Amino acid sequence: MIDLHCHLLPGIDDGPETLEEAVALAAHAVKSGITYSVVTPHVHVGRYENDLPSIRRDLAAFQSELDRRNIPLQLGLGGEIRIGPEIIDMVAQARVPFLGERDGYRIMLLEFPHGHVPVGSDKFAAWMLKNRIRPLIAHPERNRQIMDDVNKLTPFVTMGCMLQVTAGSVEGRFGEHARERAMDLLARGWVSVLASDAHNLEHRPPELEPGRKAAAQIVGEEQSWKLVRETPLSILGKGLHVAYAT
Ligand SMILES: [Fe+2]
Repeated sequence: MIDLHCHLLPGIDDGPETLEEAVALAAHAVKSGITYSVVTPHVHVGRYENDLPSIRRDLAAFQSELDRRNIPLQLGLGGEIRIGPEIIDMVAQARVPFLGERDGYRIMLLEFPHGHVPVGSDKFAAWMLKNRIRPLIAHPERNRQIMDDVNKLTPFVTMGCMLQVTAGSVEGRFGEHARERAMDLLARGWVSVLASDAHNLEHRPPELEPGRKAAAQIVGEEQSWKLVRETPLSILGKGLHVAYAT
């Protein structure tokens, strides 16, 4: 399986603090059937000052550490981009990590604040789409305003944004309300990707299979695999050689 959203790099956001914690997360991902993890550190101006060059450097160091320890996890480069006007400049400066490219659009993992959908977010998404960047909205099922009113999300889906739901939400790790919202989004056929959003072993582990299984009850087996395999692979684009579980 391919994990398109996780925080595995040590010491650069609210993911693992130490190298040993990070290695333990990677080993757990492998044990859980994940073969390829796109690391998506927070890119959040004023809070987590990561950008493409810094993530590329940290990723290379961590991949060699995993190789040295014979942990068979292949890493890809990405980032979780907190919505804000400063991102427009960062895109122009080629400092924003994208997940990949599909159908002529670069794919940006886009995060709203947890409490709300900021005013103007729809204009931000429309600007991105006009510039051939397709937002993949991170874990909308855990956003307070969207949990209360799913219609907040409708304009984004209508204009062509994709949605990533957290596997743990489907499993019930984030409470009943988030689980219900995740199931609702799956039932609407709005969800493109399930990802772990792993941060640590205790509360947010790098696991996809329990969420996939729970999602299969709503969308069926075949579609549930697409959420963790075919669609992530298509987003990563051509040239990726990865052996993934069948
Ligand atoms: Fe995240």
